[in-house]
Amino acid sequence: MLGPPGAGKGTQAKRLQDRYRIAQISTGDMLRAEVAAGSPIGREAKVVMESGQLVSDDIIIRMLGQRVEQPDAANGFILDGFPRTVPQAQALDRLLADKRMELDGVIELRVDDTALIDRIAGRFTCAKCGTGYHDTFRPTAVAGTCDVCGSHEFTRRADDNRETVGARLEAYHRQTAPILPHYAAQGILHTVDGMADIDEVARQIDGVLPAAH
Ligand code: AP5
Repeated sequence: MLGPPGAGKGTQAKRLQDRYRIAQISTGDMLRAEVAAGSPIGREAKVVMESGQLVSDDIIIRMLGQRVEQPDAANGFILDGFPRTVPQAQALDRLLADKRMELDGVIELRVDDTALIDRIAGRFTCAKCGTGYHDTFRPTAVAGTCDVCGSHEFTRRADDNRETVGARLEAYHRQTAPILPHYAAQGILHTVDGMADIDEVARQIDGVLPAAH
């Protein structure tokens, strides 16, 4: 699942997780867990993430390599926000070849930069169960109460501010967009209109991926 910050990668990856019953692997979520735990990786990543830059390929590739060895990834997985650089895409090719796995599809969510800023500025997450919301586009049904678990506590990400978003967008265009031709050449790149509403984006994605079994 590829796309600029706020394009809807996490939102759609969670839907695919339910549809295919396979693990969603978000390198951003993994890094935020390391930051919360105060681990050596987390301490290094925190500064980089808060500046909107990309964390080093070495750290990401090692972390991802360990994650896909977990039992819940044995039958496949949805990659959310990885790969993000040419070296990461090359590492993924090697990793999949070693595991005798293939990519079924690469989804590029395309969204105008101006819309992304509004999406990111309005995003919040249930602190207990992690369900994602948006002040305008996906509010809770009852104000201040999570639809899924009933919690009243919500969090906003440290890097979700207008200053950092500019750097994150720049990193996407400069370092991540160049990997798209790699997947286009393999005939597995599907570009989806991420400006549509959440259900319509999900329908478009369902239309290009293999049926769940
Ligand atoms: P990461 O956590 O991956 O963040 P990101 O790429 O900036 O993407 P976001 O999580 O902000 O957005 P999203 O596309 O998932 O959108 P969402 O579904 O939440 O990475 C964070 C940082 O970690 C990076 O900056 C980097 O430092 C580091 N990092 C992570 N992976 C790395 C890697 N591989 N290499 C190096 N560094 C790495 O949606 C956003 C909001 O919009 C939500 O509120 C949602 O409800 C709403 N929304 C979603 N879809 C729609 C829609 N269709 N219409 C209206 N609203 C919508």
